Parts: sequence; C-alpha cells; structure tokens
Amino acid sequence: MTQEELFKALVAHCKEYGFIFPSSEIYDGLAAVYDYGQLGAGLKNNIKKYWWDAMTRLNENIVGIDSCIFMHPKVWVASGHVAAFNDPLIDNKDSKKRYRADVLIEDYIAKLQDKVEKEVEKGRKKFGDSFDEEEYRKTNPNVMRAKAKADEVHNRYLEAETNNDLKEMRQIIVDCGIVDPVSGTKNWTDVRQFNLMFSTQTSNTGEAADKIYLRPETAQGIFVEYLNVQKTGRMKIPFGIAQIGKAFRNEIVARQFIFRMREFEQMEMEFFIKPGTEMEWFKTWKSNRMNWHLNLGMGAENYRFHDHEKLAHYANAATDIEFNFPFGFKELEGIHSRTDFDLGNHQKLSGKKIQYFDPETGESYTPYCVETSIGVDRMVLAVLSHSYHVEQLEGGESRVVLSIPAPLAPIKVAVLPLLKKDGLPELAQKVVDELKFDFDYQYDEKDSIGKRYRRQDAIGTPFCVTVDHDSLEDNSVTIRDRDTMAQERVPIAELRDIIDKKVNLNNLLRKL
Ligand code: GAP
Repeated sequence: MTQEELFKALVAHCKEYGFIFPSSEIYDGLAAVYDYGQLGAGLKNNIKKYWWDAMTRLNENIVGIDSCIFMHPKVWVASGHVAAFNDPLIDNKDSKKRYRADVLIEDYIAKLQDKVEKEVEKGRKKFGDSFDEEEYRKTNPNVMRAKAKADEVHNRYLEAETNNDLKEMRQIIVDCGIVDPVSGTKNWTDVRQFNLMFSTQTSNTGEAADKIYLRPETAQGIFVEYLNVQKTGRMKIPFGIAQIGKAFRNEIVARQFIFRMREFEQMEMEFFIKPGTEMEWFKTWKSNRMNWHLNLGMGAENYRFHDHEKLAHYANAATDIEFNFPFGFKELEGIHSRTDFDLGNHQKLSGKKIQYFDPETGESYTPYCVETSIGVDRMVLAVLSHSYHVEQLEGGESRVVLSIPAPLAPIKVAVLPLLKKDGLPELAQKVVDELKFDFDYQYDEKDSIGKRYRRQDAIGTPFCVTVDHDSLEDNSVTIRDRDTMAQERVPIAELRDIIDKKVNLNNLLRKL
C-alpha cells in the first residue's frame, strides 16, 4: 500500500469503527468539520488526560484553567489577530477554486526538495558502497539545479512574506509556472489577505460594535486571566497556566482529514518567566515536550524539530515539533518564546497594570512567556496513523490492528464468553463487574471468538478476556494480548492487576 492508500484506508477505518465521522453527514457534511464518535471521544479524552496530568500534576508550579470561547473584542486587537491573522489567498479564474498562495509556493518548493532526495537515492543505488553523499550533493548537476531553484524560490518567498508583498507572491506563482491542480491553468487572480477569525454578534441589532469573535487560539484566555490566577493562586515566577479548549479558524485550504479543521481543540501552556531567562526556558520546554511525545513509544525517528527561520513579530525564538504523518513530516506542536508581547499589549489596551512584583529582589516587571501549543486533533491523527497496520497472518489471513499505546486506547479490555450458553455469559458478567470500575470495557457475545478478536484488534483494545467452560471449574480465564496475540491462562482474581500494569496512565507519567 502507498502512503496515500494507507491514509485513505485509515480515514475509512475511523468512520467504520466509530472513531471519527464527517460532521452533519446526513446533509452531505460540512468541509473541515468532524465529529468524534464513541471510540474517538475515548481516545481524545485519554490524550487530553495524559497532557493535563503531565502539566498540572508533574509540575507543582503549573495550574490549569478553563476560560471562555467568547472574549472581549479588544482582546483580539491587543493580540494582533484583528490586524494580522491572515492567509494570503489566490483564486484560479477557470476552476473558481481558492488556494492559499503560500501553500502553493511551499508545495512547489517541497516538490523540488523531493527531486533532490530522489536524485541522491539514484546515486546511492548506482554507486553502492563507494557512494560519497556529500560530494554527490555538491557536484551532481541534477541535484545542484533542483537545490538552487528550491533555494531561490524559498528566499524570494521569505522576503515577500516578511514585507507582506502580495504582488511578489503572485509573481512567484507565475514565474514558477504553478498551475491549478483542478483546471491545469495559470489563470490566477491577484493575491489578497483573508482574516481567519470567525465572527458573530452579541445582540441582534447588527451594529458593528456588537461584533464578537470565536477565539482562534486558547492562549489569550490565559493571558487575560494572568493576574487573577497569579494573585489567587499566590503563584511565584516561574509558573505556568495550562488550558485545553476549542479554537476556531476559517481555514481556506481544508484538507488532510482532522489535520486542518475549522473547529479544533488545543492544549496550550503559557509559562511566565523573568525577562532575560527566556532562552533557557525555551530550551527546557523544547526538551520536556519532546520527551512527552517520545514517552509514548511511537518511534524517535517519527519526530523532528523545525526551528523557525522567520520569527513572528512577537517571538524571539520558535520551533515546531513535526511528526511523520502519512503525508510527510508536518507540524504537531509549536513552542514559542513570546516575550512580553501579549501581557504588554493587554496592559496597554486595557489600561490595567499587569506586572509581577518579585518579593526577593523588590523589582516589578511584565513577565516574559514561553508557550507550548499542541492540537488535540493532530495528536489523535498522529496516534491513529502510527497505530494502523494491516498484518498478514499465517494461513493467508490478515488482520487490521490499531496498536494504540495501551494507556491511550479507548477500550482497555473486552470480556468475551466463548458461548452464549452453559452459564458462560453469567460468569463473564461477573468478570465485567470486577473490572468495570477500573477500566473502559466492552462485553461481546456475538459471532465466533475469532471474529470478536478481530473486532477488538481493529479498535485497538489491548486485552481480550475469554471465559470458557474450564472457567466455571477453575475460576481462570484466557487473556489475549493485542500486539503479540499470545494467550495466557490466569486466575480471574489476578486480572485487574495484569491489565492495570499495562494500561494505567500513571505508569506512563512515572516515566516522564
Ligand atoms: N497559541 C499559539 C498557536 O495557536 P499555532 O501554531 O497557530 O499556535 C498551535 O497552533 C497548534 O494548534 C498547532 O501546532 C496545531 O497542532 C494546532 N492547530 C492549529 N491550527 C489547526 C487547525 N486548523 N486544525 C487542527 N489543529 C490546528
């Protein structure tokens, strides 16, 4: 299967097994909006708990809040979102389709970079053991040409973006001969800026003054509550405020399933620090956050940092943690050193003093801030895409298995009576009664045991427990491991501990 086919199969699997559905599907759906089904909601909640506990329980100086989606409209003026939270858009006059100009250019650069890597691979195959990659990259004409072109377009694009030069962005698209993937033509309009915030009104008078936005990030809720939390929690710098919540962006290029949605969820933590210490804390949080990811065991090779060359006006350092999604390495989480940009601007616009008094030095200052921000939905996609496998078994059979890290799996154990008679369902119910207070479970007595195992593999259940006739005599059951398919006979009395060892989230947290 190619990566593209695998991704399509995953999207279909998510729907078939109750993880993720297109929103309002009976009305043909709504672009870039998805609903989580019974299993998707379970997986999402476990991811959020892993993040929330790692932040607020493992760090004495981080507390969590829950602020509102609606905020005073001035918040978004102070944060810079009203003036500058824009995407550059371009339309193709033939297909009438709208694209992000920056994405068209970035895709073009990525194709050139791909070409470089393919040429290098060709060289490796051709020259075998004697292949000198460094020399080849410096001397092979095809590699040099593609790299020079990619660098040239990249530099032009960076300059155009820095200067907000929309004419130049269009010119790059024209000069590179970029065509619309739908119409195949180069008949482009001008590039225009388009604000990504959704707006609505607080009353129904239609007055412009009543305009209110759906928050495009949860972070501003933290900044405007900074003083309240610091004072009521008697927090001493350095300290952090964490929050999980919905955010909304009118994304124009809606694609790649739940990777880019119009309504999504963020897990953000703002860490307030003394000015001048931000680079140290930036480094610390880069490393903490990477450890949080690696701790899930989804392979160090699937993560990388991408340090930003061009910094947003409020940041003095920024990096992304990228994950190897089926469509390539893409941003999963952002870590930004935001200076005092947000608190400083809220102080100016609100006229309220937002300062920290340091009792040890007697100084007052506006704190600096290092932010970690991860999309819950992107994390769900990372876990699902890494976990989805089609395995060939002996005897020509195959199974689809989701090898979700056990503490994140939505269902931890399935209890299965071998037959629907002879007192087996009754004993199985007793096993359920033993386990239900500790674990999310499913009880299933329909179809052959083989089919039931396959159903549980397909939803990523780490353990299946089978109750058979011997169980009536010896009070033991068979426990089957999802990943190895190995089966073991164990006393019912020991089940809870065996399952707990593998699925308890605290064991994951202890390793951090
Ligand atoms: N407060 C900083 C901030 O919002 P961002 O890089 O725009 O930074 C942070 O977003 C994270 O939110 C991203 O790394 C991504 O995981 C997630 N995210 C952003 N836009 C998203 C979208 N349209 N759909 C799903 N997740 C999104």
